Amino acid sequence: MAFWPTPEHWSVSIPLDTDHWRVPALAESGVVELSPMPVEVPEVEWMGLEYMDWKSGGDTNFAPLASADGELDCRGFWDKGKTDKDALWTSNAEIAPTLRDYVSAVGANFGRVRVIKLEPQDHETAIRSIHRDDNNRFNPEGEGWVVRTWVELTDNPDSYMLLMDTGADGLPDPTTERRVSLQRGARFVVDTQRLWHVVVHNGDEPRYALITSFESSPTLAEWIDTERVPIAG
Ligand SMILES: [Fe+2]
Repeated sequence: MAFWPTPEHWSVSIPLDTDHWRVPALAESGVVELSPMPVEVPEVEWMGLEYMDWKSGGDTNFAPLASADGELDCRGFWDKGKTDKDALWTSNAEIAPTLRDYVSAVGANFGRVRVIKLEPQDHETAIRSIHRDDNNRFNPEGEGWVVRTWVELTDNPDSYMLLMDTGADGLPDPTTERRVSLQRGARFVVDTQRLWHVVVHNGDEPRYALITSFESSPTLAEWIDTERVPIAG
């Protein structure tokens, strides 16, 4: 029997309905695909970073570019009693000025900024790690809902992020499955507290991507509207 989350899964108790301010563009499906990355990122900006051993969503390592206190630390901001926003740049950011400037230019409040290194994992393996994020722990209601954005740094068109909305039973609803393919330069925004997610990485080499937490705000909403792929028709 293939793995499937049960009501005891730790993600099930993470809140969905709150009074945080939300980006209108994410209301419908919880995901928005953006146009390809407009700037070229030199390979040293992901290969030259200092990675920490940190497992999340598979066999992963993470290189923090911005963290709760500017230290090279992958632990949640929560361990420091902080919401995932108001982050400070780490020493890795000096190695990745293109990525740092890209995140800064959005103009929205950002939390953790990290490059993920994910080892290959097939669908059956990946599904064991499907989860929802606890992005808004300690985030005062009335402030902006924290969401995440991705930029794919390596070219993995046969890999994809698997997304599913939450069903009435609190578990992933397979009828809502969506797949976002992970070619180089692919960019997307996901409400990862709402959508169950995991990456299926079909390949022989690690996949690298930039992941940034942003606080929802009119500035972020405007940026998404500017950067998103125009709706056909
Ligand atoms: Fe996640």
